[in-house]
Amino acid sequence: MTLKTREPSAKLAHIEACLNADVEYQKSTGLEKYDFVNQAAKSISLQEIDISTRLLGKHLQAPLMIAPMTGGIERGLELNQRWARSAEHWQIAMSVGSQRIGLEDPSKAAFYQIRKHAPTTLIFGNIGAAQICRGFGIDEVKRAVEMIEADAMFIHFNAMQEACQGGDVDFKDLHRKLAEMCSALKKLGVPVFAREVCFGISPEAAIRLLDAGVDGIDCAGAGGTSWAKVEALCAKNDRQRKLANCFGEWGIATATSILNVRSVSREIPLIATGGLRTGIDVAKVIALGADLGAMARPMLLAAYASEQALFDFIEDVLAQLRVCMFGAGASSLKDLKTTLF
Ligand SMILES: Cc1cc2nc3c(=O)[nH]c(=O)nc-3n(C[C@H](O)[C@H](O)[C@H](O)COP(=O)(O)O)c2cc1C
Repeated sequence: MTLKTREPSAKLAHIEACLNADVEYQKSTGLEKYDFVNQAAKSISLQEIDISTRLLGKHLQAPLMIAPMTGGIERGLELNQRWARSAEHWQIAMSVGSQRIGLEDPSKAAFYQIRKHAPTTLIFGNIGAAQICRGFGIDEVKRAVEMIEADAMFIHFNAMQEACQGGDVDFKDLHRKLAEMCSALKKLGVPVFAREVCFGISPEAAIRLLDAGVDGIDCAGAGGTSWAKVEALCAKNDRQRKLANCFGEWGIATATSILNVRSVSREIPLIATGGLRTGIDVAKVIALGADLGAMARPMLLAAYASEQALFDFIEDVLAQLRVCMFGAGASSLKDLKTTLF
Protein backbone atom coordinates (compact mmCIF):
# COMPACT_ATOMS: atom_id res chain seq x y z
CA MET A 1 0.00 0.00 0.00
CA THR A 2 1.26 3.49 -0.76
CA LEU A 3 0.26 6.62 1.09
CA LYS A 4 1.14 8.92 -1.80
CA THR A 5 -1.98 11.06 -1.89
CA ARG A 6 -2.93 14.69 -1.91
CA GLU A 7 -5.31 14.39 1.04
CA PRO A 8 -4.20 17.36 3.16
CA SER A 9 -5.02 15.75 6.43
CA ALA A 10 -3.57 15.68 9.93
CA LYS A 11 -4.77 12.07 10.02
CA LEU A 12 -2.49 11.20 7.13
CA ALA A 13 0.46 13.01 8.75
CA HIS A 14 -0.13 10.97 11.93
CA ILE A 15 -0.12 7.72 9.98
CA GLU A 16 3.05 8.66 8.09
CA ALA A 17 4.81 9.65 11.33
CA CYS A 18 3.81 6.35 12.96
CA LEU A 19 5.01 4.39 9.93
CA ASN A 20 8.29 6.16 9.31
CA ALA A 21 9.64 7.81 12.46
CA ASP A 22 10.72 6.96 15.97
CA VAL A 23 7.52 7.71 17.86
CA GLU A 24 7.85 5.30 20.75
CA TYR A 25 8.49 6.15 24.41
CA GLN A 26 11.90 5.45 25.82
CA LYS A 27 10.29 4.60 29.12
CA SER A 28 8.63 1.24 29.36
CA THR A 29 5.08 0.02 29.87
CA GLY A 30 6.15 -1.36 33.26
CA LEU A 31 5.02 -4.82 32.13
CA GLU A 32 8.63 -6.09 32.27
CA LYS A 33 8.44 -5.84 36.08
CA TYR A 34 6.01 -8.77 36.07
CA ASP A 35 6.67 -12.33 35.08
CA PHE A 36 4.79 -15.58 34.89
CA VAL A 37 5.79 -18.58 36.99
CA ASN A 38 6.85 -21.44 34.74
CA GLN A 39 4.82 -24.54 35.49
CA ALA A 40 6.73 -27.60 34.36
CA ALA A 41 4.45 -30.23 35.81
CA LYS A 42 0.91 -29.10 35.07
CA SER A 43 -1.62 -31.55 33.60
CA ILE A 44 -2.66 -29.31 30.74
CA SER A 45 -2.94 -29.50 26.92
CA LEU A 46 -1.83 -26.63 24.68
CA GLN A 47 -4.62 -27.56 22.25
CA GLU A 48 -7.24 -27.06 24.94
CA ILE A 49 -6.18 -23.63 26.19
CA ASP A 50 -9.25 -21.41 26.01
CA ILE A 51 -8.51 -17.78 25.14
CA SER A 52 -12.12 -16.85 24.35
CA THR A 53 -13.94 -14.18 26.30
CA ARG A 54 -17.07 -11.97 26.27
CA LEU A 55 -17.37 -8.21 26.24
CA LEU A 56 -20.64 -6.25 26.07
CA GLY A 57 -22.55 -9.45 25.45
CA LYS A 58 -20.45 -10.47 22.45
CA HIS A 59 -18.33 -13.59 22.24
CA LEU A 60 -14.72 -12.92 21.24
CA GLN A 61 -12.32 -15.67 20.21
CA ALA A 62 -9.47 -13.83 21.95
CA PRO A 63 -9.00 -10.94 24.41
CA LEU A 64 -7.48 -8.76 21.71
CA MET A 65 -8.53 -5.49 20.08
CA ILE A 66 -7.36 -3.47 17.10
CA ALA A 67 -7.15 -0.05 18.77
CA PRO A 68 -8.71 3.06 17.18
CA MET A 69 -6.54 4.69 14.54
CA THR A 70 -8.14 6.18 11.50
CA GLY A 71 -11.08 6.98 9.23
CA GLY A 72 -12.48 9.84 7.18
CA ILE A 73 -9.74 9.65 4.54
CA GLU A 74 -9.42 7.32 1.58
CA ARG A 75 -6.25 5.64 2.84
CA GLY A 76 -7.80 5.30 6.28
CA LEU A 77 -10.71 3.40 4.78
CA GLU A 78 -8.37 0.90 3.11
CA LEU A 79 -6.59 0.30 6.40
CA ASN A 80 -9.83 0.09 8.39
CA GLN A 81 -11.21 -2.45 5.93
CA ARG A 82 -8.13 -4.63 6.32
CA TRP A 83 -8.44 -4.43 10.10
CA ALA A 84 -12.18 -5.12 9.89
CA ARG A 85 -11.72 -8.28 7.79
CA SER A 86 -9.05 -9.52 10.20
CA ALA A 87 -11.15 -8.64 13.24
CA GLU A 88 -14.05 -10.59 11.73
CA HIS A 89 -11.85 -13.54 10.78
CA TRP A 90 -10.29 -13.83 14.23
CA GLN A 91 -13.44 -12.64 16.06
CA ILE A 92 -11.56 -9.95 17.94
CA ALA A 93 -12.70 -6.41 18.75
CA MET A 94 -11.87 -3.31 16.73
CA SER A 95 -12.46 0.44 16.79
CA VAL A 96 -12.37 3.07 14.08
CA GLY A 97 -10.39 6.26 14.73
CA SER A 98 -11.97 9.58 15.59
CA GLN A 99 -15.17 10.11 13.60
CA ARG A 100 -14.90 13.87 13.81
CA ILE A 101 -14.04 14.20 10.09
CA GLY A 102 -17.14 12.22 9.07
CA LEU A 103 -19.40 14.15 11.44
CA GLU A 104 -18.17 17.55 10.33
CA ASP A 105 -18.25 16.65 6.63
CA PRO A 106 -20.90 13.99 5.90
CA SER A 107 -19.38 13.39 2.45
CA LYS A 108 -16.46 11.77 4.35
CA ALA A 109 -18.67 9.45 6.42
CA ALA A 110 -18.35 6.79 3.71
CA PHE A 111 -14.62 6.55 4.55
CA TYR A 112 -15.51 4.84 7.84
CA GLN A 113 -17.79 2.13 6.54
CA ILE A 114 -16.43 -1.18 7.66
CA ARG A 115 -19.48 -3.05 8.94
CA LYS A 116 -19.92 -5.10 5.78
CA HIS A 117 -16.35 -6.37 6.31
CA ALA A 118 -17.00 -7.19 9.96
CA PRO A 119 -20.70 -8.02 10.20
CA THR A 120 -20.60 -9.82 13.54
CA THR A 121 -17.64 -8.81 15.66
CA LEU A 122 -17.49 -6.10 18.34
CA ILE A 123 -16.95 -2.65 16.80
CA PHE A 124 -16.47 0.63 18.63
CA GLY A 125 -17.07 4.12 17.27
CA ASN A 126 -14.86 6.97 18.42
CA ILE A 127 -15.22 10.65 19.23
CA GLY A 128 -13.15 13.09 21.27
CA ALA A 129 -13.98 14.54 24.67
CA ALA A 130 -12.76 17.83 23.17
CA GLN A 131 -15.59 17.70 20.61
CA ILE A 132 -18.14 17.03 23.35
CA CYS A 133 -16.84 20.10 25.18
CA ARG A 134 -17.07 22.16 22.00
CA GLY A 135 -20.68 21.31 21.27
CA PHE A 136 -21.06 17.81 19.84
CA GLY A 137 -24.25 16.58 21.46
CA ILE A 138 -26.30 13.42 21.43
CA ASP A 139 -27.37 13.93 17.78
CA GLU A 140 -23.76 13.89 16.59
CA VAL A 141 -22.92 10.85 18.70
CA LYS A 142 -26.03 9.05 17.42
CA ARG A 143 -24.83 9.78 13.88
CA ALA A 144 -21.41 8.39 14.78
CA VAL A 145 -23.03 5.17 16.03
CA GLU A 146 -25.18 4.86 12.88
CA MET A 147 -22.23 5.70 10.60
CA ILE A 148 -20.57 2.38 11.39
CA GLU A 149 -23.37 0.45 13.15
CA ALA A 150 -21.23 0.57 16.27
CA ASP A 151 -21.83 -1.75 19.21
CA ALA A 152 -20.34 0.82 21.61
CA MET A 153 -18.65 4.22 21.59
CA PHE A 154 -15.20 5.27 22.70
CA ILE A 155 -14.81 8.84 23.91
CA HIS A 156 -11.11 9.66 23.85
CA PHE A 157 -9.68 11.87 26.57
CA ASN A 158 -6.54 13.32 25.04
CA ALA A 159 -6.01 16.65 26.81
CA MET A 160 -2.21 16.35 26.66
CA GLN A 161 -2.27 15.46 22.96
CA GLU A 162 -4.51 18.45 22.21
CA ALA A 163 -2.12 20.74 24.13
CA CYS A 164 0.85 19.34 22.20
CA GLN A 165 -0.86 19.90 18.84
CA GLY A 166 -2.23 23.35 19.66
CA GLY A 167 -5.74 21.91 19.44
CA ASP A 168 -8.84 22.11 21.65
CA VAL A 169 -7.77 22.70 25.23
CA ASP A 170 -10.91 23.96 26.96
CA PHE A 171 -12.20 21.01 29.01
CA LYS A 172 -13.85 23.16 31.72
CA ASP A 173 -17.33 21.67 31.45
CA LEU A 174 -16.18 18.15 30.74
CA HIS A 175 -17.69 16.27 33.68
CA ARG A 176 -21.23 17.62 33.25
CA LYS A 177 -21.23 17.10 29.49
CA LEU A 178 -19.83 13.59 29.80
CA ALA A 179 -22.47 12.69 32.39
CA GLU A 180 -25.23 14.00 30.10
CA MET A 181 -23.81 12.07 27.17
CA CYS A 182 -23.52 8.82 29.16
CA SER A 183 -27.09 9.13 30.37
CA ALA A 184 -28.46 9.87 26.88
CA LEU A 185 -26.54 6.96 25.34
CA LYS A 186 -27.67 4.64 28.13
CA LYS A 187 -31.28 5.34 27.06
CA LEU A 188 -30.33 4.36 23.51
CA GLY A 189 -28.62 1.19 24.74
CA VAL A 190 -25.17 2.26 23.51
CA PRO A 191 -22.38 1.57 26.02
CA VAL A 192 -19.73 4.30 26.44
CA PHE A 193 -16.06 3.57 27.12
CA ALA A 194 -13.72 6.42 28.04
CA ARG A 195 -10.19 6.07 26.74
CA GLU A 196 -6.88 7.85 27.01
CA VAL A 197 -4.68 7.73 23.93
CA CYS A 198 -1.35 6.89 25.64
CA PHE A 199 -0.93 9.07 28.73
CA GLY A 200 -2.66 6.73 31.17
CA ILE A 201 -5.49 6.96 33.72
CA SER A 202 -4.89 8.09 37.31
CA PRO A 203 -7.10 6.82 40.17
CA GLU A 204 -8.69 10.32 40.33
CA ALA A 205 -9.50 10.22 36.62
CA ALA A 206 -11.02 6.74 37.00
CA ILE A 207 -13.23 7.97 39.86
CA ARG A 208 -14.45 10.93 37.81
CA LEU A 209 -15.14 8.80 34.75
CA LEU A 210 -17.10 6.25 36.77
CA ASP A 211 -19.00 9.03 38.50
CA ALA A 212 -19.99 10.44 35.09
CA GLY A 213 -21.46 7.04 34.21
CA VAL A 214 -19.08 5.44 31.71
CA ASP A 215 -19.61 1.72 31.09
CA GLY A 216 -15.95 0.90 30.60
CA ILE A 217 -12.44 2.33 30.36
CA ASP A 218 -9.49 1.87 28.03
CA CYS A 219 -6.65 2.99 30.28
CA ALA A 220 -4.17 3.43 27.38
CA GLY A 221 -0.87 4.20 29.04
CA ALA A 222 2.73 5.11 28.29
CA GLY A 223 5.37 2.76 26.95
CA GLY A 224 4.36 2.37 23.30
CA THR A 225 3.47 5.09 20.81
CA SER A 226 4.00 8.55 22.36
CA TRP A 227 1.40 10.96 21.02
CA ALA A 228 3.48 13.92 22.16
CA LYS A 229 6.29 12.64 19.92
CA VAL A 230 3.88 12.12 17.02
CA GLU A 231 2.54 15.65 17.46
CA ALA A 232 6.10 17.04 17.59
CA LEU A 233 6.77 15.43 14.21
CA CYS A 234 3.55 16.85 12.78
CA ALA A 235 3.88 20.33 14.35
CA LYS A 236 3.05 23.37 12.24
CA ASN A 237 5.92 25.46 13.62
CA ASP A 238 9.09 25.23 15.71
CA ARG A 239 7.59 26.49 18.97
CA GLN A 240 4.81 23.90 18.82
CA ARG A 241 7.40 21.21 17.99
CA LYS A 242 9.56 22.21 20.97
CA LEU A 243 6.58 22.20 23.30
CA ALA A 244 5.41 18.76 22.13
CA ASN A 245 8.93 17.33 22.36
CA CYS A 246 9.16 18.44 26.00
CA PHE A 247 6.29 16.05 26.77
CA GLY A 248 7.57 13.10 24.74
CA GLU A 249 8.01 10.98 27.86
CA TRP A 250 4.90 12.26 29.70
CA GLY A 251 2.41 9.72 30.97
CA ILE A 252 1.46 6.95 33.40
CA ALA A 253 2.95 3.61 32.34
CA THR A 254 0.42 1.08 31.03
CA ALA A 255 0.91 -1.40 33.90
CA THR A 256 0.33 1.34 36.50
CA SER A 257 -2.64 2.64 34.55
CA ILE A 258 -4.33 -0.78 34.75
CA LEU A 259 -3.70 -1.01 38.50
CA ASN A 260 -4.99 2.56 38.97
CA VAL A 261 -8.34 1.71 37.40
CA ARG A 262 -8.57 -1.59 39.25
CA SER A 263 -7.84 0.19 42.55
CA VAL A 264 -11.06 2.13 41.96
CA SER A 265 -13.26 -0.59 40.48
CA ARG A 266 -12.78 -4.33 40.31
CA GLU A 267 -15.76 -4.77 37.97
CA ILE A 268 -15.68 -2.06 35.32
CA PRO A 269 -14.86 -3.55 31.89
CA LEU A 270 -11.26 -2.57 31.21
CA ILE A 271 -9.23 -2.48 28.02
CA ALA A 272 -5.47 -1.91 28.20
CA THR A 273 -3.57 -0.26 25.36
CA GLY A 274 -0.12 1.30 25.07
CA GLY A 275 3.04 -0.57 24.14
CA LEU A 276 1.58 -4.09 23.87
CA ARG A 277 3.73 -5.79 21.24
CA THR A 278 3.40 -9.56 21.80
CA GLY A 279 0.96 -12.15 23.07
CA ILE A 280 2.95 -12.22 26.33
CA ASP A 281 2.14 -8.51 26.80
CA VAL A 282 -1.53 -9.31 26.20
CA ALA A 283 -1.33 -12.11 28.79
CA LYS A 284 0.30 -9.73 31.29
CA VAL A 285 -2.36 -7.02 30.97
CA ILE A 286 -5.08 -9.66 31.45
CA ALA A 287 -3.25 -11.03 34.50
CA LEU A 288 -2.97 -7.49 35.89
CA GLY A 289 -6.72 -6.97 35.62
CA ALA A 290 -7.66 -5.91 32.08
CA ASP A 291 -10.37 -7.72 30.10
CA LEU A 292 -8.85 -7.05 26.67
CA GLY A 293 -5.44 -5.94 25.42
CA ALA A 294 -5.38 -3.59 22.42
CA MET A 295 -2.65 -2.72 19.92
CA ALA A 296 -2.42 0.24 17.58
CA ARG A 297 0.96 0.83 15.92
CA PRO A 298 1.87 -2.86 15.45
CA MET A 299 -1.51 -3.36 13.70
CA LEU A 300 -0.77 -0.32 11.53
CA LEU A 301 2.67 -1.60 10.49
CA ALA A 302 1.30 -5.05 9.69
CA ALA A 303 -1.78 -3.80 7.77
CA TYR A 304 0.35 -1.33 5.82
CA ALA A 305 2.67 -4.17 4.72
CA SER A 306 -0.22 -6.31 3.45
CA GLU A 307 -3.47 -7.92 4.50
CA GLN A 308 -1.67 -11.27 4.74
CA ALA A 309 0.97 -9.71 7.02
CA LEU A 310 -1.81 -8.47 9.28
CA PHE A 311 -3.47 -11.92 9.41
CA ASP A 312 -0.08 -13.48 10.19
CA PHE A 313 0.70 -10.89 12.87
CA ILE A 314 -2.58 -11.54 14.68
CA GLU A 315 -2.13 -15.31 14.35
CA ASP A 316 1.35 -14.97 15.89
CA VAL A 317 0.08 -12.85 18.79
CA LEU A 318 -2.65 -15.39 19.55
CA ALA A 319 -0.14 -18.27 19.38
CA GLN A 320 2.17 -16.40 21.78
CA LEU A 321 -0.74 -15.82 24.15
CA ARG A 322 -1.67 -19.52 24.10
CA VAL A 323 1.91 -20.71 24.68
CA CYS A 324 2.36 -18.15 27.46
CA MET A 325 -0.76 -19.49 29.19
CA PHE A 326 0.41 -23.06 28.61
CA GLY A 327 3.80 -22.28 30.20
CA ALA A 328 2.13 -20.52 33.12
CA GLY A 329 -0.27 -23.44 33.59
CA ALA A 330 -3.40 -21.40 32.90
CA SER A 331 -6.04 -23.14 30.79
CA SER A 332 -8.41 -20.15 30.70
CA LEU A 333 -8.19 -16.37 30.99
CA LYS A 334 -9.72 -16.69 34.46
CA ASP A 335 -6.85 -18.97 35.53
CA LEU A 336 -4.34 -16.53 34.03
CA LYS A 337 -5.33 -13.89 36.56
CA THR A 338 -3.68 -15.85 39.37
CA THR A 339 -0.36 -16.64 37.73
CA LEU A 340 1.66 -13.39 37.63
CA PHE A 341 4.36 -12.37 40.08
C1 LIG B 1 -1.93 6.15 13.36
C2 LIG B 1 -2.65 6.21 14.68
C3 LIG B 1 -3.80 6.99 14.80
C4 LIG B 1 -4.51 7.06 16.01
N1 LIG B 1 -5.70 7.74 16.08
C5 LIG B 1 -6.49 7.62 17.18
C6 LIG B 1 -7.81 8.15 17.20
O1 LIG B 1 -8.31 8.70 16.22
N2 LIG B 1 -8.55 8.01 18.34
C7 LIG B 1 -8.06 7.38 19.46
O2 LIG B 1 -8.79 7.24 20.45
N3 LIG B 1 -6.79 6.88 19.47
C8 LIG B 1 -6.01 6.98 18.37
N4 LIG B 1 -4.74 6.43 18.36
C9 LIG B 1 -4.16 5.93 19.63
C10 LIG B 1 -4.16 4.42 19.74
O3 LIG B 1 -5.46 3.90 19.73
C11 LIG B 1 -3.38 3.92 21.00
O4 LIG B 1 -4.07 4.33 22.16
C12 LIG B 1 -1.93 4.43 21.08
O5 LIG B 1 -1.31 4.51 19.80
C13 LIG B 1 -1.06 3.52 21.98
O6 LIG B 1 -1.03 2.21 21.51
P1 LIG B 1 0.24 1.57 20.75
O7 LIG B 1 1.43 1.75 21.64
O8 LIG B 1 -0.12 0.12 20.53
O9 LIG B 1 0.40 2.31 19.45
C14 LIG B 1 -4.03 6.34 17.15
C15 LIG B 1 -2.86 5.56 17.02
C16 LIG B 1 -2.18 5.47 15.80
C17 LIG B 1 -0.93 4.61 15.71
